[in-house]
Amino acid sequence: MDKQKEIKERVTKILGWYDAHRRTLPWRSEPGVVPNPYHVWLSEIMLQQTTVATVKSYFEYFLTRWPKIENLAEASLDDVLHAWQGLGYYARARNLHKCAKAISSDYDSRFPETESALLSLPGIGPYTASAIMAIAFNKKATPMDGNIERVITRLYAVAEPLPKSKKYLYQLAKQMTPDQRAGDYAQALMDIGATICTPKSSKCSICPLMHNCIAKSKGLEGELPKREKKPIKPLRQATVFWVTRSSGKVLLRKRPEKGLLGGMIEIPSSSWEVERKSRAELIEQAPFDINWTIVPGTIRHTFTHFHLDLEILSGTYEGKSLIGDIWSMPHQFNDHALPTVMKKVIAHVESALG
Ligand code: ADE
Repeated sequence: MDKQKEIKERVTKILGWYDAHRRTLPWRSEPGVVPNPYHVWLSEIMLQQTTVATVKSYFEYFLTRWPKIENLAEASLDDVLHAWQGLGYYARARNLHKCAKAISSDYDSRFPETESALLSLPGIGPYTASAIMAIAFNKKATPMDGNIERVITRLYAVAEPLPKSKKYLYQLAKQMTPDQRAGDYAQALMDIGATICTPKSSKCSICPLMHNCIAKSKGLEGELPKREKKPIKPLRQATVFWVTRSSGKVLLRKRPEKGLLGGMIEIPSSSWEVERKSRAELIEQAPFDINWTIVPGTIRHTFTHFHLDLEILSGTYEGKSLIGDIWSMPHQFNDHALPTVMKKVIAHVESALG
């Protein structure tokens, strides 16, 4: 069979499978209904680094609170960061807000319909731009996420490991992308990757591409894709200062706008360093010069590029507040945009100190 005919046949199988087995997802429009680009964009940003199961409730909450992009543009960044709590990778939430503002002010609240204009917006990279082009506007584009990469790797039995193989996988995927129904096609590959062509125990017997899959024909589906070994993450260490007042309030502060967890609320800590510091050096970074007691145990949190081990010192302070100090009762911590690492600290202190 010639190559074009073979590709056409595969696309037909993929779209046929999608018509029968597509997942119902809150951001996905029903067949025949024109998609809402705001929904598509919001879901794609949330789905980067976060599972479909987790994203569902956040997506619904955001839409209830900010039904249109102009509502999100008018929200305060603090409110958006707060609503984002638990999704992690907070740069996404800041860019989400910036992007909503840009679309509201520069594009009359309508998403631009070219890949280059989308790419110029905050937080929209090649993947998101092509996902929006395909899913929201049904234009020919080839978004490549982890699921699609796995499907293509196995379909062609690409032996080169990820991430080196990405360029080649994109070329293979691009030549398969149909002119028609680009959105359904992209979502079909996402669904096949998520429900059939899974990392472990793939369900090849129900796969529409079973008879086209080179990995399956060679019995290699469980071994592909190969991955280059990830570099070992360095370990950083720091001390957290848990300061209370006799009223029961605990000291919080806002992190600098730039950098990791920028603009989020934290319990004050020393700088996060790879080198071990002496207790005296750490205490120099404490917010107040008071007596400190060690809270037993340490907390490990893993970020994208490093592990962080935290020890906690607790103390009491009745003096004057400094500019930027936030004193909060523990039952009101949820009013603040606290990142997961700080929630771990709070849970640890609450169980250690009762
Ligand atoms: N993962 C990323 N984007 C997705 C989408 N639009 N549908 C399903 N899974 C996804």
